[in-house]
Amino acid sequence: MGFIELEGISKNFGCNTVVNELSLSVKKGEFVSFLGGSGCGKTTMLRMIAGFETPSKGSILINNVNVSNIPPARRKLGMVFQNYALFPNMTARKNIGFGLRISGIPRTETEKRVDEMLDLIHMTQFGDHYPHQLSGGQQQRVALARAIIVKPGALLLDEPLSALDAKIRIQLRDDIRAIQQQLGITTIYVTHDQEEALSISDRVAVMREGRIEQIGTPLNIYNRPATSYVASFIGTLNMFYGSVVDAEKGVVTVGESLLRTAESISVDSGKTVRVAIRPEALSLFNNETMSDANFLPGRIETIKFLGSTVRFIIKFEDKFISMDCFNTPQFKMPQKGEQVSVTFSREACQILPGDAIPFCYHE
Ligand SMILES: Nc1ncnc2c1ncn2[C@@H]1O[C@H](COP(=O)(O)OP(=O)(O)OP(=O)(O)O)[C@@H](O)[C@H]1O
Ligand SMILES: [Mg+2]
Repeated sequence: MGFIELEGISKNFGCNTVVNELSLSVKKGEFVSFLGGSGCGKTTMLRMIAGFETPSKGSILINNVNVSNIPPARRKLGMVFQNYALFPNMTARKNIGFGLRISGIPRTETEKRVDEMLDLIHMTQFGDHYPHQLSGGQQQRVALARAIIVKPGALLLDEPLSALDAKIRIQLRDDIRAIQQQLGITTIYVTHDQEEALSISDRVAVMREGRIEQIGTPLNIYNRPATSYVASFIGTLNMFYGSVVDAEKGVVTVGESLLRTAESISVDSGKTVRVAIRPEALSLFNNETMSDANFLPGRIETIKFLGSTVRFIIKFEDKFISMDCFNTPQFKMPQKGEQVSVTFSREACQILPGDAIPFCYHE
């Protein structure tokens, strides 16, 4: 039994079903992210766990207790939202200590725990600052400290970093993860940023239209997406329609080219599938290329220098392929317009059902 159990949760607003039969078990101490596009029901699901919305169907158990009739304040959950929501007329210290003060903890004990929290969030010297004297990142640290000082059973975070700029976001997400692990606190984190979800979570639940489309470890979600939607939502991906030539041997055609996969294909020969290949799994043909690798002929259309990597957009028949190469000293940079042979292993070639989701993108 997980620490948080969501059992067949649905939520309707009028005739609009925004969470649909969602079930999930979150283990004690686990960090699970809800990842999905705008409007897929992430916030609504989190608000139901917190008690601010009531499910239309299903039940929520926290630490083996059905919380349906328990008001938010008594669910013992810490929450942090996108907008900082600090008390503007209180210093950082007062904000952090608020939960302890209202529950009647003696002043000396409160002050001691506030000091510990300020240390934990690396803000000891900012205790006497008011929210307007703090940066957005610092305000979110205070919001986090205010949420965890009361030792909540679990922490719920709804896009806590989305109002911050990129550099602060990365720093603070790493700090959130470190603090979460240090305290061993069960956490549910909502985001629409796939990199954030992959970097911070034990498991990621990819949501779509109120359902969990796939749940797994970041590695599993990235390397083994179960559906075209997940595959295209997570990272950049090359996705082509292919036709199964030999299902048993894992052979497909994409355009004029024959490709081999590492496993047999569970779709009949002659049927249409999708072939997915990550940009970093591609390379240019060289003398280290394995003899059983796949090849696609193409022409370099665009070269984007990204620092440690270089992204090439390569035209293959009427399609475009993204390929990422490390910018190592020995890397021989091809030129724009050059004819090349792109190669990738059988393992890099993943087959997904040829469903009709209109997803295929390149950055
Ligand atoms: N109180 C409400 N009344 C009616 N509809 C609502 C209410 N709250 C949310 N919705 C609708 O439910 C759907 C899901 O909203 P929700 O806020 O859960 O999405 P989200 O996944 O958090 O999106 P975002 O990434 O934009 O924050 C949306 O279509 C929204 O308009
Ligand atoms: Mg939301």
